[in-house]
Order: sequence, then C-alpha cells, then structure tokens
Amino acid sequence: MKITNIQTIEKIGAEVQLAGWIQSLRKMGKIVFIDLRDRSSLLQVVLVPSELDVDSQEQMKKLKPESVISVIGVVQARGEKQINPNLPTGSVEVLAKSLKIFSESLTPPFEIVNEDRQANEELRLKYRYLDLRHERMKNNIILRHKIVRFIREYFYNHDFLEIETPYISKSTPEGARDFLVPSRNFPGKFYALPQSPQQYKQLLMVAGMEKYFQIVRCFRDEDQRGDRQAEFTQLDVEMSFVTQEDILQLIEELFIQLVKNILPQKKFTSQPFVRLTYQQAMEQYGSDRPDLRQDKSDPDELAFVWVTDFPMFEYKSGDQRWGAAHHPFTAINPQDLEKLQDPKKMGEIKALQYDLVLNGYEIAGGSIRTHEANVLHRVFELLGHTNEEIQAKFGHLLEAFKYGVPPHGGIAAGLDRVVMVLANEPSIREVIAFPKTSDNRDPLMDSPSDVTLDQLDELGLSLKKRIN
Ligand code: AMO
Repeated sequence: MKITNIQTIEKIGAEVQLAGWIQSLRKMGKIVFIDLRDRSSLLQVVLVPSELDVDSQEQMKKLKPESVISVIGVVQARGEKQINPNLPTGSVEVLAKSLKIFSESLTPPFEIVNEDRQANEELRLKYRYLDLRHERMKNNIILRHKIVRFIREYFYNHDFLEIETPYISKSTPEGARDFLVPSRNFPGKFYALPQSPQQYKQLLMVAGMEKYFQIVRCFRDEDQRGDRQAEFTQLDVEMSFVTQEDILQLIEELFIQLVKNILPQKKFTSQPFVRLTYQQAMEQYGSDRPDLRQDKSDPDELAFVWVTDFPMFEYKSGDQRWGAAHHPFTAINPQDLEKLQDPKKMGEIKALQYDLVLNGYEIAGGSIRTHEANVLHRVFELLGHTNEEIQAKFGHLLEAFKYGVPPHGGIAAGLDRVVMVLANEPSIREVIAFPKTSDNRDPLMDSPSDVTLDQLDELGLSLKKRIN
C-alpha cells in the first residue's frame, strides 16, 4: 500500500511506495527530478537511470506532467543546501528504484502549477476535475470538510438529532422561484425541490424531536451572484422550548469555537458579537448587513454582527403587494400582535427574526415561529391568500398545529458563504466542488440538456417548442 507523500519525512532510510500525479519534470543530463503530487503534498522524486530496473528505464522516457505514476524508492535526507523550506516535504527526497505509469495525461487545457495564468471560468468548470487539482482549490475543499465535520460534532455534543428531510417535495414559500419535478405517477402534477426544509423542520418539532439539525441542500431558481447559487447548502437548525436568546447564544458559540479550532490565526473584531436592531443597522450603516471590520484589507479579521427585530412584512413594489420579510412562519413581536387586525399597520409590525452577518455577508437567518394556528392563518390572509389557497398550500401545517405544537424557533446558515468568507474567496463558486455558471449551467456535464420524447411522454409532458 502506498504511503502519502507527507509521511516520507518520518521515513528517512526506508524503502517506500508512493503514487500520485507528476506536477512537473526537470531534466539534468540523464537525471530526472519529478515533483510528485498527492493530496498530502508535493515530494521530490529523483530518477537516476543506473538505479532503476530495465522496465522502469523504459517508462522513464514516457513521463509527462499530470500522468499518474507509482514509485518505489528510498527516502533520503536532503543536504543542508538542498532543503526547500517552502515545501512540507522539503527536507527529504526519494531516490526511485522502480517506476510504473498508471495512466498518461494529455496536456491540460490550463496550467496546474501556475494558477496565476488562470483560465476563464467556463474552461475551469468544464475541466473542474483539473481545476480542483490547484493547491488553492484543494485547500478550500479540505477547509470545507473540516468545517462540516466540526459543525456536526458541535451539534451532536449539544444533544441534537441529525434528521434528513425530503428533496422531492412541495413548494415552500421562501421568496424564490421553485425548481419543479414532474410526477410520472400523476401526470400534470409536480413536486418542488425545497427552497429550505422550513416546514419539515417545524413538523419535526410537532413530532417531538426537540432539537434538530441537518446539513442540507436547498434549491432556489434565482439568478446567480457571487454569493448565490441555485443549489446551495444550509446548516439548518430548529429547537423547541427556546427563546431567541438561546438560539443566538448557541450559534455564536458555534462560530467562536469553529474559528478558534480550525482557523486560530483569525481575529474577531468584537466578541461577544455586535448586536444591532434592523432599525439601528439601517440608520447607522444604511444596510441590514453592515461590514464592521476595522481594517478591510486584513484577511484575518472577522466581524460578526447580529441584526435583530426585522419588520415582519415588506412591500414588494415590483409586484405591488406585501410579502413576508423572512417567511410567513416567523413570529410577530408580542407587542405588535394587535396590529395584525389593522392592515394599514402591516409596515409597523416587528418580527422575532434575526440575521447573522459576517464581513458584510448575510451568513445566517432565522426566527422564532408562530405556533398559534389562528395567528398563522391571519398572517397568510394579510399576505393576500384566500381561505382556499391557505388550505391548499399550508393546510398540513395548520392541521399539525392542532395536535400539540411546542413553541419553537430556529435558524439556517449558508454554509457556502461561511466557507467563502473564512477562505477569503470572492465567490461561493470557489468553495463548491461542482458549482454552476452564472446562467445556471454545468459545462462539465453539459446540463441542462435535452431529454428524449419518450421521457416526456412518460411524464405526460409536451414542450411548447423544442429549441435545437
Ligand atoms: P434564508 O432564506 O435566510 O432562511 O436562508 C438562510 C441562509 O442561507 C444562505 N442562502 C444562500 N446561500 C447561497 N446561495 C443562495 N441562493 C442562498 N440563499 C440563502 C444565506 C442565508 O442567510 N428556512 C429559513 C431559515 C430559518 O428561518 O430557520 C431560510 O432558509 O446565508
């Protein structure tokens, strides 16, 4: 079995088996130096024809960058002057005895060694498996893994249950367009991919699960931006019998511990996190996601800010109607409950809603929920739904609330955004293994793509026009 490149630093004098990709080749007379890359590190491998068996000498002639090889050789310490302080394995090199090529590589469409000569995004995404070979991209993926692992441990330690909820589901109003999935068994009917597990997690509270979390994919058919993808990942949390303060404390502690454990070089602008009401944020900074870093050129500064007391409703001037600022399940501040009776006062009603902002990005949002069926019904009415619509869209939740619903609340963090800010990247595409382009394509798999007429027939669908 091969050892990893990084393990060679503890194996001086030993014969080892290694395998990986040829990052680069340098020839000095008959001697060839290889930078062998595996996930752990680069490692210098020295090929001297006289030290190699006959087969390996033949293989040596065919070596090319990015080909995959295996090497058996002896680890030797480098001389004082040969030590490379920039490489984790810079104190050693491996003198090869035998060499095998597993597979040869074509010349890649862009450089793997020198990322500065970077290809355009289309090409990077088309050859994402090569793009991910870049050191920076690999490190982003590893950082994301560490963060996910830390989050899971944190919630297990706090007695949360990790529960999966359906992806093939029914539309939940989070304000974006749904991705629809046609039903074969019920032609003409559609599932929707969830914009978030909001209603399911509330139903889990009715079911008595008390503390739920999930690292879950969400789907929103909206235009892409640097911090937005059509499918993205949430850390989703819901708890019964809690106050807003309990949730803020739990999440604040999560981020403090996460940063201290995984990125100890980072500094908090303020700890405990700054808290602003929505009104204060708007008056003082003109934004509900202010960037409160003291020095915006410092890559290691983290300015977390809680923004609370959002308005419950906002007027959507484009659609000329009122919408929920967060979502309709959010609880009204008890002081404002009476205002629900007067539609003219909708704009004055405050919600028990909070966002967590990091360096100017909204990284999490949540609320205490309305658990009184009649209040929830009134909110739907104020949002312009008829009784029939309320029954069709939300009847299941209103009914569930008739069977003993605990007071509950929760939050969801955008995992991609969290990793993006912690990795100092400008876009969440840099921290997602296989993201989509800004117009929602995957150039690697070539999706979206055509389907056959048979597939459409089976679903009872026909297209208005076929474009190809
Ligand atoms: P919300 O819609 O605010 O709340 O989403 C929670 C967090 O998810 C992130 N986010 C996104 N990240 C990448 N791409 C997107 N398109 C995208 N949309 C949102 C943001 C945001 O703060 N169910 C509620 C949560 C709750 O009330 O518990 C919800 O989904 O960081």
